[in-house]
Amino acid sequence: MKVLATRRYPGPAFAELEDVEVGAVSGLTEVRPEIEALVVANEPVPVELLPGLRLVANFGVGYDRLGIETLRERGVAVTNTPGVLNAATADLTFALILAAQRRVVEGDRRVRAGEWTGSWADGFLAEELTGSTLGIVGLGRIGQAVARRARGFELRVLYTQRRRSDTELGEYRDLDELLGEADIVTIHAPLTPETRGLVAARGLALLKDGGVLVSTARGEIVDEPALVAELVSGRIRAGLDVFSREPHVPEELLGLPNVVLTPHLGSGTRQTREAMTRIVVDNILAFERGEPLVTPVQLR
Ligand code: DGY
Repeated sequence: MKVLATRRYPGPAFAELEDVEVGAVSGLTEVRPEIEALVVANEPVPVELLPGLRLVANFGVGYDRLGIETLRERGVAVTNTPGVLNAATADLTFALILAAQRRVVEGDRRVRAGEWTGSWADGFLAEELTGSTLGIVGLGRIGQAVARRARGFELRVLYTQRRRSDTELGEYRDLDELLGEADIVTIHAPLTPETRGLVAARGLALLKDGGVLVSTARGEIVDEPALVAELVSGRIRAGLDVFSREPHVPEELLGLPNVVLTPHLGSGTRQTREAMTRIVVDNILAFERGEPLVTPVQLR
């Protein structure tokens, strides 16, 4: 089966694909009827140029940019890589929470700029993490991994999601209550028509003064211009791994001390990315053999 992959994906599993071409889909200019399977990292699929396409194996759990409606209409199967990136994303969430809450990046910049000249006792102060209230928006697999890690920091955990679940991981709140009650809010919902713009300007205004917002999910879930305005005002702090128009990051954020910025690193560990490639390849091999897909996306 002829596979087009938008890059050489990391890890040894990639070498198991026998007939694979590596090349960006954005660079396709002519129709390629021989391509039957495509590997992308949540990138738009140019279906009009790939009339023979039968499978899209997405490297990643979120598939919001593929153009899923068109793929469904064309009968193209889609797979993703759930499960293996929960730990890495939850770990990065805590890296961002700690960095924002304890002003780690600001401190690092001060040291590098030669501004650490006096006693530690004269240094700037941050807020304690231990004992804070953490609000989790979306208690799916990654949200749950975050809630479990929160126990180690003795955090009180609140959560909100479409369906209230019977869980001991946290106390349910509706979104507005959670935004107003938590010291730190972290977003773990998938991007869907329902969650696009879920945390709007009105919701951001409910955050406590000095509160922290962290997102490792999708930039479009938060009203980005409203978030930028809140950060520019200095009222809140943030740790942001995702943005609405990646790799573009709003210019206004670049010089702000109260926001920590990372380039969509949630799943970015060698172990996790290699495990994601393993699932991508297993799906392609299963499809080739006519076996059930390992992790199909249900196209409703
Ligand atoms: C995903 O899998 O959707 C993530 O955003 C990749 O880190």
